[in-house]
This record gives sequence, structure tokens and C-alpha cells, in this order.
Amino acid sequence: MKKYIGEISKSVGESVEVAGWVHARRDMGKIVFIDLRDSTGLLQVVFIPSNQELLAQAMNLRPEFCVRIRGTVNERPEKMRNPNLITGSVEMLAESLEILNEAKTPPFEIDKDTTPVNEELRLKYRYLDLRSERMAQNIRLRDRVVGFFRDWLRNEGFIEIETPMLTKGTPEGAREFVVPSRIHSGNFYVLPQSPQQFKQLLMVAGVERYFQLARCFRDEDQRGDRQPEFTQLDLEMSFVEQEDVLELNERMMIELIKKVCPDKRIAVTPFPRIPYFESLEKYGTDKPDLRQDKNDPNELSFCWIVDFPLFEKNDDGSIQAAHHPFCMPNPEDLHLLDTEPLKVRGWTYDLVLNGYELSSGSIRIHKPGLQQKVFELLGLDEETIKVRFGHLLEAFEYGAPPHGGMAPGIDRLVMLLANEPNIREIIPFPKTGDARDPMMGAPSTLPLSQLKDVHISTDV
Ligand code: AMO
Repeated sequence: MKKYIGEISKSVGESVEVAGWVHARRDMGKIVFIDLRDSTGLLQVVFIPSNQELLAQAMNLRPEFCVRIRGTVNERPEKMRNPNLITGSVEMLAESLEILNEAKTPPFEIDKDTTPVNEELRLKYRYLDLRSERMAQNIRLRDRVVGFFRDWLRNEGFIEIETPMLTKGTPEGAREFVVPSRIHSGNFYVLPQSPQQFKQLLMVAGVERYFQLARCFRDEDQRGDRQPEFTQLDLEMSFVEQEDVLELNERMMIELIKKVCPDKRIAVTPFPRIPYFESLEKYGTDKPDLRQDKNDPNELSFCWIVDFPLFEKNDDGSIQAAHHPFCMPNPEDLHLLDTEPLKVRGWTYDLVLNGYELSSGSIRIHKPGLQQKVFELLGLDEETIKVRFGHLLEAFEYGAPPHGGMAPGIDRLVMLLANEPNIREIIPFPKTGDARDPMMGAPSTLPLSQLKDVHISTDV
């Protein structure tokens, strides 16, 4: 069994086996040096002239060859130590070499930062891009963030529950991806924009504290902080008030930074709370960037935006939900619901980090009458309400508890922690700006027979 390079310093004086990829080869007269890379780091391997056959083999190695090497781990002479490598104090003297697989010359240099490389090319060869140090670190940071959340929330009494991907539309403001049903001709599933309704139904189911690393799908125009599929840390709690949700999320973020990114500094705690209209007035946005030094890569400036209006006006004068239609109106404003709905504040809140909306949530409506009324104010007729939300209204008739929650976007969070300019850099397999996957070739046409199976005919 191979030893991982990250652990190799413990094996000084031993003959061990390592395996990975040739990161670089340097020929120094009669000696060949290889930087061998595995998932844990780089190791310098030396091939010396006393074994001519082995040396000749090493001379054939090229970048990205996949190899297995046996050798003795030695301390490096003092002058030769490299403090930038985890294995900088040791090197391996090769005893045998096996080429497990050769590699074509990669389309871009993997031993350098791939940021300047054409993005289409990077995405087409994403499996090579992910070998580069920056990208490998980004996916590992993502794993540490996700791992932290899982442990932390379980410790707080939350349980992880998966909700369906094939479901019915849920209104979160974006166009939905649809999946045709084979068995039910002319019918469609919809991929979830978020697990919003399911998590509320889990509260009705008595779960009390739920979370999920939820994949969400939204067919909307791409931006640097938007992808058609992305991940939320979706969470929901029963018997809570807004204060409880804010307190839990704030504590979770502070502990995340302390544990996973100790080099980062949170500018202000407790996180400032800014009412929505005050934020618009003062900063001209509901996502203010409150960093003192925008050039400091380690400054994190969180703030809460609270007291969002429940509704906003469409161009045609109709009203739509500012967050989503399940948010609880602030009880102080309930009397305005019929007369001046646009003045009703919601128990809704966003968490903003360095000018990005990181997370959004609310206390939810849990009474069927009030939910029905909000649907009506949104202009939905009786039949539409029944077809689209009948299940939720019915569930609320079975002792639904008061509940609320929120959903931090994992991609935006990791992007900011990694100091990356867009979320494609921290999603292992993202889509291009026009929603394509150049590696897999998605989206693609399908054979007519497959379309026929699902009762689809196309006009292209
Ligand atoms: P919302 O739609 O505000 O709320 O989404 C919550 C968080 O998800 C992230 N996010 C995205 N990330 C990448 N690409 C996208 N296209 C994208 N869209 C959203 C953001 C955002 O803050 N169900 C509610 C949450 C709740 O009320 O509990 C919801 O989905 O970081």
C-alpha cells in the first residue's frame, strides 16, 4: 500500500512506496529529480547514477505521468531544505519506478496557477484543472467547510434529511428545470429550486431540527455568483423566533471561521443588523460591503439585513413575494395586509458577507388561513392555490408548529473564503456562463427513440 506524501516525513530512514503524478522533472547532469505529486502534497524524488537502468527510466518521465516509486526517505541536507513544501525537510532516494500510465502533454500547465488559461479549455479538461494546486486546495476547503457544518449542526441536535430531486414546482422566483415523466404522458417533474416546502413539511412531521446540503436548480441567467445548480446548507427549526435563527446562524459562522479559516478576521461581532430600508438609504443596496479595507483578503464583514418588506410591486402593478410566499408577516403589520400590503414587513432576513447575499431565510407562516390569504394577495385564484399548494395548506391543518430557518449558499461562502472572484472556481464541475458543461457536452440532443419514450417531440 502506498504512503501518502503528506505523511512521508514520519518515515525517515525507511524504504516506502509512494504513488502519484510527475509534477516536474529536473535533470541535473547525471542526477534526475522528480517532484512527485499526490493528493496530499509534493515530494522530491532523486534518481542517482549508481542505478543506470533506473536513471534511464526516470529520464523518460514527463509531466503528469502516473507512477509508483519505491525508495528510502532521507533527511535533506540543511541547505537543501524547502520550507514551502510539507515534505521540504526530506527527499526520497528512488529504488524502483513503475510507470502506471503515460500522459499526453496537457493542454495547459498544471504546475502553475491556471487562472489565466482560457476558461472553456479549463472546463473541458476539468479533471486536469483540478490537479492544479489552487483548484485542489479549493475543493479541499469546500470539503472542510461542509464537514464543519455537518458536525456542528449534528452537535446542535439537527438531523440530515434528503428531500426529493424529482418534485413539483416551488416558487422561489426563478424559471425551473423540468423533467418529463415516461409513465405519466404529458406530465413533468420539476427540479427543486430549494427544498423550501419539504423542509416546512418536515417541521409538520415533528423533526424540529433539520438540515441538508441541498442541491438546488434554477434556470436563470448566469453571473459570477450564480450557477444553474448550486448547493445550499438548508436548515429549518421548529418553535423558534427570528432571534433564535439569527443567533444560531451567527454562532455557526463565527465558529466556522475560527476553525476552518483561522487566518481570516471577522470585522465586527455581533454582526451589525440593518433594516432593509435603512440599508437602501445609507448604502444604496441591500447587500452592503462593510469591509474597512477592501484590499485585505482576510477581512470578513458580515451583516444582517432585516425587516424586508413581505411584498414588492411588479411593473404591471401586481404584487409578488419579496422572498417567497411562505414568509411570516411581522405581526405588528398584520392590520395593513388588506389595505397597504406593500407596507407589511416580513419576518425575513438575509446574511450579507463582503457585499454578497450569503444566506436568506424567514420565520414561516404555519396557519392555513394566513397562508391562504397571502396566496390570494399574490393574485392566485382558488384553483391554482389548490393545485399548487393544497398539500401544504392541508398539512398546516394537522398541528403545524411555528417554524423558521434559512439557507446559506455554500458556493458563495467558499468563494469568499477562498478569495476567488466567482463560484465556478470552487465548484468542481461548474457550467459555463451560458449553462454548458464543455467536458461532458451537456446539454445535448437525445435520440428520437429516447424522446418518444418520454412523449416529447421537438421543433428543432
Ligand atoms: P434564496 O433563494 O435566497 O432562499 O437562496 C439562499 C441562498 O442560496 C444561494 N443562491 C445561489 N447560489 C448560487 N447560484 C444561484 N443561482 C443561487 N441562488 C441562490 C445564495 C442565497 O443567499 N428557500 C430559501 C431559503 C429559506 O427561506 O430558508 C431560498 O432558497 O447564497
